[in-house]
Amino acid sequence: MFAKRIGIDLGTANVLVYERGRGVVLDEPAVVAITERDNTVIAVGDEARGMIGRHPGSIQVIRPMRDGVIADYLITEAMLRYFITRVVGRFNPIRPEVMICVPVGVTGVERRAVRDAAEAAGARRPAHLIPEPLAAAIGAEIPVGSARGHMVVDIGGGRTEAAVISMFGIVASDSVRVAGDRFDDAIAQHIKRRHNLLIGERTAEEVKIAIGAAIPDLENDPIAQVRGRDQITGLPRTISVRSSEVTHALQDHLSVVVQTVRRVLEQTPPELASDVIDRGIVLTGGGGLLRRLDELIRHETGVPVHVAEEPLTCIAKGAGQALDYIEVIERALPTEEESLIGEGR
Ligand SMILES: Nc1ncnc2c1ncn2[C@@H]1O[C@H](COP(=O)(O)OP(=O)(O)OP(=O)(O)O)[C@@H](O)[C@H]1O
Ligand SMILES: [Mg+2]
Repeated sequence: MFAKRIGIDLGTANVLVYERGRGVVLDEPAVVAITERDNTVIAVGDEARGMIGRHPGSIQVIRPMRDGVIADYLITEAMLRYFITRVVGRFNPIRPEVMICVPVGVTGVERRAVRDAAEAAGARRPAHLIPEPLAAAIGAEIPVGSARGHMVVDIGGGRTEAAVISMFGIVASDSVRVAGDRFDDAIAQHIKRRHNLLIGERTAEEVKIAIGAAIPDLENDPIAQVRGRDQITGLPRTISVRSSEVTHALQDHLSVVVQTVRRVLEQTPPELASDVIDRGIVLTGGGGLLRRLDELIRHETGVPVHVAEEPLTCIAKGAGQALDYIEVIERALPTEEESLIGEGR
């Protein structure tokens, strides 16, 4: 029997597992339900997500990843163990070979925590790490091995990462803790302030996906019905929210995303920048699906922008495919000394 070879995208919002030869075999929210009393895990993934905002006080529903990094080590490990076991089979004694993604801007300590959690959760030692933008580019079928500049911008739940890649290496990059989750917060805040209505994170996300846009379309300004609790009467109430209102609420965060892209373009050596202008920027991650975000970035940077074909799955796929060239990938990771310099970002 051979070891399974899997790529894992351990995201703030979603965990995906790609198995070589089979494709994406698991795609679930990064959510765990535990008992308040003794931290026993009672549900993971889809099942736990269904409990958000609906569970009794004796149960806690946790998202163990925050801003693209591990916020709760033990719960992350338990979640990974559950997912890896589901993919590999409970009675399979052969540990899988694992390539797992880490954001580029994280510290050595944060990176090590991901490796340790994967190994403790059942991955064969050593578990391999890959910078997320590199995995995204491989998964989006960009020829990252060539001596050409390629730019990827990944907008996930917790983080936006922009990077220019050439010859399997990251030439310039930047990352900020502003992405889908912050967009949801901004929408909830806006609805609270403007309409005195309290809504939960899931409702805010639904509004974003239903009518959110990075550039308003004033001629055809769609409306969503939003249900929540009135801040004054305390009773349930439904209001109408316009897409342009959501755009307005997202304004500050969108400009942070745009600034991040611009900073990376500014750091990129001229030859590579000219390749990026020729080929365009590729958007990945769920946040890349926000309506007209590609247009906004194109408008603000002057560089063409395309959304990857499968923006939500390309990182897991790229991580799985990268198992074919482990040595080159490991060279792309910063050394321990280099990551000390970036510590604390
Ligand atoms: N159609 C859509 N429009 C806007 N946002 C979307 C859409 N679909 C998904 N999203 C958002 O994408 C985010 C999840 O994306 P993704 O799965 O790439 O994140 P992640 O990899 O888990 O997070 P990170 O990479 O930051 O750790 C969520 O915030 C979700 O609301
Ligand atoms: Mg991600």
